[in-house]
Amino acid sequence: MSTPFEPGAPAGEGFIPLCVPEVRGNEWTYVKECLDTGWVSSVGKYVTRFEERIAARLGVGQAVAFTSGTAALHVALLLAGVGPGDEVVLPSLTFIAPAFAVRYLGAWPVLADVDPRHWQMDAEQVGGFLRQGCRQEGGQIINRATGRRVKALLPVDLMGHPADMDPLMELASEFGLTVVEDATESLGGLYKGRPAGRLGHIGALSFNGNKVITTGGGGMLVCDDQALAQRARYLSTQAKDDPLEYVHCQVGYNYRLSNIQAAMGCAQLESLDDYVAAKQRIQGAYREGLAGVPGIGFMEQAPWALSACWMSAVLVDPAAHGQDSRGLLGALHGQGIQTRPLWQPLHQSPALAGSHNLGCPVSERLHSQGLCLPCSVGLTPSDQERVILAIAAGQGGGSRAA
Ligand SMILES: Cc1ncc(COP(=O)(O)O)c(C=O)c1O
Repeated sequence: MSTPFEPGAPAGEGFIPLCVPEVRGNEWTYVKECLDTGWVSSVGKYVTRFEERIAARLGVGQAVAFTSGTAALHVALLLAGVGPGDEVVLPSLTFIAPAFAVRYLGAWPVLADVDPRHWQMDAEQVGGFLRQGCRQEGGQIINRATGRRVKALLPVDLMGHPADMDPLMELASEFGLTVVEDATESLGGLYKGRPAGRLGHIGALSFNGNKVITTGGGGMLVCDDQALAQRARYLSTQAKDDPLEYVHCQVGYNYRLSNIQAAMGCAQLESLDDYVAAKQRIQGAYREGLAGVPGIGFMEQAPWALSACWMSAVLVDPAAHGQDSRGLLGALHGQGIQTRPLWQPLHQSPALAGSHNLGCPVSERLHSQGLCLPCSVGLTPSDQERVILAIAAGQGGGSRAA
């Protein structure tokens, strides 16, 4: 499905982008210090400080900085023992990065649906799959349909809203699986009062340019297990067994975040609470401003979640709204307002052909009806009002603005 513009296309005056970074704190000071002192690469005080502060923020024992969330997921899965021919269960409705991390290891995604209210991986369907769709063999869980070993669960905190982790953790302990929480969208969110990112056995964060806080590009692996974190550090720095003599006993990766990026991360982290509050306010204003507009719906906030509201999205019911989500996308684009559909469900992705699909009708509906709205931390109330009025005016047969 094509959209009438590419993200990052030149923006004219009055253009409202989907989601751009907010840089307004100590970024320049900290980065300048790296440049002035020559500590620009993957060792330096800011790497250590960024790790310590993320660990403290999440209340987790260990944090290891990576070049990206995808790299953190790759190593997290490797640490979970995922290998060639294994399977990892993840939601079909997500950005594709976690599935690619699975494929980097020669393993295969098992694609589960999301629940229609909160859009998170459907724990009931996953439980059904493990109970009825798998058999136990020599202490391993074997997918009856593919004959492959199921090794891990990879829930994604979609749109910044934590997945329902307790039932997934119960399934993991019942079936001996590792849970890698993809919290790349949910930093600052809470699940039953606990910070997103620390809810599984291993968590992955992202500091990509469009995330709640950014280092330009970057990620973090978090866990409580010191030995695991040590191994993550070793693997992400080319697996040096003797750094002086350049002895390497296994394949490593060049996945370590630079000190410059970490310096930016430290500065961004100082604003995390403000940024999350801004994102939550923006989402609240959409919910309020679009309440009662025919054919416009939202993801429900689960009672157990406090969403970081990384991304705000609406569902467009074409029959009630008078146009479908792509029609509305085009209409908004014509007014200089950037929006974006939700991700193509992964069970429909040609890049993942051969993955096991548990049946994902909800993901398909959300994909066809979903539209992500401008939600930059710096979105002004007047620009947001423009978006709300444009959506309301886009409905068949009337206008909220009238
Ligand atoms: C759900 C999800 N997982 C993983 C990633 C990958 O993070 P990164 O871009 O830092 O590699 C992203 C975002 O980019 C994401 O949205």
